[in-house]
Amino acid sequence: SYPSRVKLVEVGPRDGLQNEKQPVPAAVKIELIHRLQAAGSKEIEVTSFVSPKWVPQMADNAEVMAGIERRADVRYSVLTPNMKGYEAAVLTQPDEIVVFGAASEAFSQKNINCSIAESIERFAPVVEAARAAGIYVRGAMSCTVGCPYEGDVAPSQVGYLAKLMKDIGVQHIGVADTIGVGTPIKVRKALEATLQHFDINDVSGHFHDTYGQAVANTLAALAMGVWQFDTSVAGLGGCPYAKGATGNVATEDVVYMLHGMGIETGLDLDKLVDAGAFISQALGRPTQSRVAKALLAK
Ligand code: HMG
Ligand code: MG
Repeated sequence: SYPSRVKLVEVGPRDGLQNEKQPVPAAVKIELIHRLQAAGSKEIEVTSFVSPKWVPQMADNAEVMAGIERRADVRYSVLTPNMKGYEAAVLTQPDEIVVFGAASEAFSQKNINCSIAESIERFAPVVEAARAAGIYVRGAMSCTVGCPYEGDVAPSQVGYLAKLMKDIGVQHIGVADTIGVGTPIKVRKALEATLQHFDINDVSGHFHDTYGQAVANTLAALAMGVWQFDTSVAGLGGCPYAKGATGNVATEDVVYMLHGMGIETGLDLDKLVDAGAFISQALGRPTQSRVAKALLAK
């Protein structure tokens, strides 16, 4: 049986926009976040505190965090790859921080310029400081199914990283199909490897939709009892260090599926479509959400 309620973490402002070539003004990001809040988003991944040389689009991280009209019932998360990122992030009072590693060595090197083992050494003090400050710590694991540089990634690699994350005190873990190559059984295996180390209530799915499999993969995870997912309005996004990878599964598409199954999300689909239309127009591109396209054509 499926969960009766699902929590969606909206990652459009971060994962969705980090790869955008044209500058997106902070004011547009802030307006997007306000519209997402209006649609009922209770968990928003706002930005990342990474090197502006590596990811110029996130250089306005503090400005965006400061510009949001915060709601007491919304949790705001940010990515922090190291202590430098954490120290900048903490000044902006995030509710949650995210350390992000990879199940493949090559991707770890390309994305964060260090090995998996080195990344854990960098994350450990970040996790410790955050937890001491009462900030919730999420971990993200990239390339849990496939890697743009190494190809298939074995579930044992996923289990290895999940254990390292658990051992340093990470409280929740996201299982990411960074390049969207996963299919339901492969995704299930990556999740099963993770569940050796984390409780089902502390695991989420993060599926990019490059090959059009992300809704199917979401359903496969749901069938296992996973009830938390990262999604991106209008299907925005991609990772700068995963060439050709498209955005996360569109929030609208997942919400349509869940509501159609009688599963609650707390989100208002029409207002989400509005938020997606706003950002798509600002970027000068059509939405990547099939559901939004269908509803807008009505
Ligand atoms: P590095 O070059 O190894 O870092 O980068 P370093 O410690 O040697 O420092 C080099 C320079 O960067 C120094 O500046 C530092 O001050 C600066 P310089 O002295 O040369 O002027 N620096 C920083 N500046 C700002 N914020 C920081 C920071 N750290 C160092 N936090 C680093 C290592 C991790 C910083 C770099 O590789 C980086 O920023 N990478 C970006 C990775 C990224 O953002 N990727 C996309 C997000 S992950 C993702 O999308 C996947 C996910 O969605 C899940 C999935 O789908 O798979 C989460
Ligand atoms: Mg991602």
